[in-house]
Amino acid sequence: MAQDTYTEFANTGLGRRVTKALGLPQPAKLRRYRPNAPLVEGPVVVVGDGEASDTLAAQLVSWGLDVRRHVGPKEKLAAVVAVFDTISTPADLSDTVLALGGLLKQLLPSARVITVFRDPTGTEDPAIRAARKGVEGLTRSTAHEMRAGGTANGLVLSEDLDVAAPSVAGGLRFLLSGRSAFVSGQFLTVSSVNGALPEDWSAPLQNQVAVVTGAARGIGAAIAKVLHRDGARVILVDVPAAGEQLAAVANQVGGTALQLDITAEDAGERILEHAQQHYGRLDIVVHNAGITRDKLLANMDASRWDSVIAVNIESQLRMNRAFLSSELFNRTEDSVGPRIVSLASTSGIAGNRGQTNYAASKAGVIGMVSAASAQLEARHGTINAVAPGFIETEMTAKMPMATREVARRLNSLNQGGRPEDVAETVAYLTSPAAAGTSGLTLRVCGQNLIGA
Ligand code: NAI
Repeated sequence: MAQDTYTEFANTGLGRRVTKALGLPQPAKLRRYRPNAPLVEGPVVVVGDGEASDTLAAQLVSWGLDVRRHVGPKEKLAAVVAVFDTISTPADLSDTVLALGGLLKQLLPSARVITVFRDPTGTEDPAIRAARKGVEGLTRSTAHEMRAGGTANGLVLSEDLDVAAPSVAGGLRFLLSGRSAFVSGQFLTVSSVNGALPEDWSAPLQNQVAVVTGAARGIGAAIAKVLHRDGARVILVDVPAAGEQLAAVANQVGGTALQLDITAEDAGERILEHAQQHYGRLDIVVHNAGITRDKLLANMDASRWDSVIAVNIESQLRMNRAFLSSELFNRTEDSVGPRIVSLASTSGIAGNRGQTNYAASKAGVIGMVSAASAQLEARHGTINAVAPGFIETEMTAKMPMATREVARRLNSLNQGGRPEDVAETVAYLTSPAAAGTSGLTLRVCGQNLIGA
């Protein structure tokens, strides 16, 4: 992994003084998942009118948090939840927005701002939709204004969703926690009441069996580790050439290795066979394996184009057909059904010079998950994508130094993400608490300035 020596320096006493004096970016040390750490370390303020804010405040209290509706001017705060449940025109935003604004200077490092509002597409009323879209705009701008590793994100509820639904609590908890350290300026949509809150928040994937492709290194290895940490048993897939590395990661997580090229016609069936033989079940599929073969379109050749499409999207479509037609991945006895999470990329959203093939494949992933969500819903399951921005991996370590340095600073957190940041979001989407979210592409990019 590339060393981000600048961030290390900027977090020393001298570094803080120098970067401040010179007006340089000041990447903070982010609050990430730590075993047994509190969900947030300080008071959480809930602002906004309506029953929804009372319901959410009660939920936060039930987790033992120090929840306030009002605070003194000197108090330091870990998070602000701003609830916009009853807005019917943009003029209705101001009370809650100004209450939020008045608290921003009191935020602790790695604080969280979470806006909660109804899905703009859930209404045909121009004033109501304008107000809801307004919350999106103000949330993104707040994310740009956050300091010291703080983030701002939106929790978007579908029109008639009960605010007390477990899936709403699940989303709120993820956004408050250290698991979402590198997620900023994003919107987590909760569209169904499905879901169950785990009895043990430190092992939400207990009894689940997961398969992770491309698990020998990088983001895939991090995903395998986080799923294992969260209680899942993991099948790790990678190409035979990566067999030794794959076995090493499999040993670390007490999982089983399956050497397999995912472009094989029968890749899905091979995974199902392995799952049946070793575990007798398969609950979670993470399509992580991916390749780049960058070339300007003017110089593109068939092998570069075809291989990227074959690995990054065609293989997933084929494997999903196998999974969805199998009994193993189609359990109806459980209230929480099967999960698929696929790796997209911010290139698939914004495009990137030299990456027509890669962007086509990753935009394809985004299309696939939005369309397949209905198929999964029929099985009480979900399918979502995660789109990483700049992540510190072997892939990005190979970039020329100047390009890498620019790329990793061009986001609101002024630093690259870590493989485990992507893994945390993947793990959240596979958890029972996330059963209300499907068809979504969630970016893990520190609010990358490039792209939507
Ligand atoms: P990586 O190149 O370090 O690891 C990918 C793994 O997939 C390798 O172990 C490789 O052997 C395996 N793989 C490739 N083709 C395969 C095949 N046909 N069958 C089985 N396994 C195969 O990549 P990294 O950085 O960990 O990326 C993981 C995923 O995240 C990819 O889908 C990538 O496109 C995506 N991503 C990565 C970003 C980054 O900044 N590193 C940014 C955006 C997306």
